[in-house]
Amino acid sequence: MTGVAKVRTAVLISGRGSNMETIARAAMAADYPATIALVVANRADAAGIATARRLGIEAIVIAHRDFATREAFDLAVSAQLQAHGIELVVLAGFMRILSPAFIHAWPERILNIHPSLLPKYPGLEPHARAIAAGDAVAGCTVHLVTDVLDGGPILAQAEVPILPGDDADRLAARVLVAEHQLYPQALADYARRLRGG
Ligand code: GRF
Repeated sequence: MTGVAKVRTAVLISGRGSNMETIARAAMAADYPATIALVVANRADAAGIATARRLGIEAIVIAHRDFATREAFDLAVSAQLQAHGIELVVLAGFMRILSPAFIHAWPERILNIHPSLLPKYPGLEPHARAIAAGDAVAGCTVHLVTDVLDGGPILAQAEVPILPGDDADRLAARVLVAEHQLYPQALADYARRLRGG
């Protein structure tokens, strides 16, 4: 990465922030092509805020409840991202649907991770649905965010077996381990692509 500026990246979270943490730790490597310049949480009680600050990353709360409309909240988030010179937005356990205006303001600049093998099981409770369907394999997907919920172009996927006796929590824990491998790698690949590498 000598001579090439790292991609200034913000991570949006709503809770635990374990994907944010693995990305932030990966981004500490000198040759990682992105830097985590900001963490934004839409809830003041998101545990990931303290994690980010411990890692020396600026973390702010923009509480969606303080805004009358989805669009007003999204505009406030966008304004903060712009004020911090952000180039790339990473959703990591961010439990808000973004408005079309926000998505169009950041074309091909928003990544999300979803804990299923998209296009299977977009939306809520993907683990329970995979088990109920009798699938042998689950997994996770990193994709670009478009107007279609969990429907944007796929950047990377990892498979995880569904084992006898799995319930949604057990499967979610196994998929999360794969998420922590996949997301930092997929973000690095995408950041290099943005820089033409
Ligand atoms: C992850 O499973 C992610 O795929 C899903 O929500 C969970 C967030 O976990 N969208 P964390 O906040 O990153 O720990």
